[in-house]
Amino acid sequence: MDRKKVDIVALNQMKSDGKKITMLTAYDYPSARLLDEAGIDTILVGDSAANVVLGYPDTLPVSMEEMLMLTKAVVRGAEHAFVIGDMPFMSYNITIPEAILNAGRFIKEAGAAAIKLEGGAHMISTLSAIVKAGIPSVGHLGLTPQTASMIGGYRVQGKEALSACNIIEDAMRLEDAGAIMLVLECVPDRVAGMVAQRLDIPVIGIGAGAECDGQVLVLHDMLGFKSAFTSKFVKSYASLSDSIRDAAAAYKKDVEDKTFPDLEHSFEIGDKEFAMLKSIAPHKI
Ligand code: KIV
Repeated sequence: MDRKKVDIVALNQMKSDGKKITMLTAYDYPSARLLDEAGIDTILVGDSAANVVLGYPDTLPVSMEEMLMLTKAVVRGAEHAFVIGDMPFMSYNITIPEAILNAGRFIKEAGAAAIKLEGGAHMISTLSAIVKAGIPSVGHLGLTPQTASMIGGYRVQGKEALSACNIIEDAMRLEDAGAIMLVLECVPDRVAGMVAQRLDIPVIGIGAGAECDGQVLVLHDMLGFKSAFTSKFVKSYASLSDSIRDAAAAYKKDVEDKTFPDLEHSFEIGDKEFAMLKSIAPHKI
């Protein structure tokens, strides 16, 4: 069956039809291709790349150039999925013109369909300006890793009525400002449900329960690339750390035992040519 490229209209339709939206992160061409083949609706080139592929301690150090390079690779692999580029810390926090320019680079240079930025009330004017410049923008509320130190660390947000109400208000303001979608991270399920009910745009949860319009996970978490800390909301669907380590150890053993490469994995020269080669090849002095 012919698959159509996923766009904002299709994602909104899924929300109206009550069909859950699937989102995963990806940071490279082969992963994006596989997720696309699996029918994943949207791919987020998350700034989680900082931790999971670039080895930084948190998401703060990743640069625009690094994010653009990863986004370009994902766009090349995603034939159908809706690709979102995640704006890195300090690429949208200083001035609005700078935020618009950087957001525009994800669309113009990297080919993303939309950008994502973190933050509530204090980010409304920035998101609104980016949207007015014609750039589809996704909001991100709840646990916002780029400002984790200002919200008490990596912890569930909105557990008290007042803070939950702030999340709901911020979500409604982001929608009014023109956000096309909202990511809600680490928010109690019933609070996330209230947000999803109040917004017309799709609400995608990570650690935000089953009432969201869709779900996102970090690819390396769901594939079982074990890290020092794994959050309660992560479900692993594979155990790739073990598979990769076992494969590398088996390869090392084969090479050391001289069982790889064998004839099956080598190229041959015919006897006649080899005999001639031996007669003409220079000798080691
Ligand atoms: O950077 C990222 O991967 C994210 C998801 C956790 C939503 O923002």
